[in-house]
Amino acid sequence: MFGTFTGNTTNMHTNIDVFVHQGSKGFEGCDYFINEEPAKADFLSELKKGFLETPKVISPKFFYDELGMQLFGKITETPEYYVTRVELELLENLGNELSELVGKNKVVIEYGCGSSRKIATLLRTLNSPSEYLAIDISPDALKETTGTIASAFPNVRVGGLCADFYSSSFVLPREVGGSKDSRLVFFPGSTIGNQEPREAQKFLENIHNVLGVGGNLLIGVDLRKSKDLLEAAYNDQMGYTADFNLNLISRMKNELEIDISRDAFNHLAFYNEEKSRIEMHLVASVDQEFEIDGTKFTILKDEAIHTENSYKYTSEDFETIAVNSGFKLEKCWSDPDDLFSIQYLKAV
Ligand code: AVJ
Repeated sequence: MFGTFTGNTTNMHTNIDVFVHQGSKGFEGCDYFINEEPAKADFLSELKKGFLETPKVISPKFFYDELGMQLFGKITETPEYYVTRVELELLENLGNELSELVGKNKVVIEYGCGSSRKIATLLRTLNSPSEYLAIDISPDALKETTGTIASAFPNVRVGGLCADFYSSSFVLPREVGGSKDSRLVFFPGSTIGNQEPREAQKFLENIHNVLGVGGNLLIGVDLRKSKDLLEAAYNDQMGYTADFNLNLISRMKNELEIDISRDAFNHLAFYNEEKSRIEMHLVASVDQEFEIDGTKFTILKDEAIHTENSYKYTSEDFETIAVNSGFKLEKCWSDPDDLFSIQYLKAV
């Protein structure tokens, strides 16, 4: 039994399933779990829309089906992809400095839960954090993370929220504990880099609204660096990044039964210096014609489908975006080679 069912009569959220567990730990180690049942991203309708644009686009959010998540895991283990490794090393070395800045009894709210290694490192570093709330659109990812964290940190209250934090109407559930200034949003991985800088600023404004003045944000930001290092990181020798990119074609074929061939595309990733971003594309090697849901599309040889941007910032550039969205930079850490940074911000 999952304890008290609170229903949705007094909750801000609509269309949800809530349980609050009292006493011993409940479902997947959660003290509370809220399923807002966020709308599933609709691959077919977004694909049709994206293919009407020039150039054609597919949103990077479609990379992460089960195989895509596995491939991303492989990417993070390659020697070329420094992002995950350097961020973890930074987190492991924050130690006293971060725990003194952040203070005791914090409520840590993670936006998106990937591997639980980063959040486990953060919770270990902080001075007796009181609560951890994981937010993700995937219930499976949530269950995995909350289960792991609940058993590793028996003194931390653990919550799960299945919701879309990119939605502009996103708010924290009433179940979340602590006062405004005890809350810390954790957004690692430089996931913020997938958004256009203007969108990134809007998103930070949204986090500011969600937290309220006095709340904190700890965010991982990938730094601008040499073209060679960047391009190597997105063109690993093992070919995992290529497989990750080409998996979009496999998904079109397998899930939507589109008559398109994976062999007719090549992975392309390059650093656009002017825009300070890695771009990923799928480039056609031959002319092709296919139908998506009754609509005919053609792709000509050498035509590219744009699948991802990954913006790289200087610490100062990112601070400007954060300041423009209402935050004050308290501290910025980076590795000795200035590959990656972690910014600790306060909503003012
Ligand atoms: C996790 C979205 C930040 O942009 O580096 C890795 C995704 N794409 N290799 C990134 C990714 C290609 C990654 N993010």
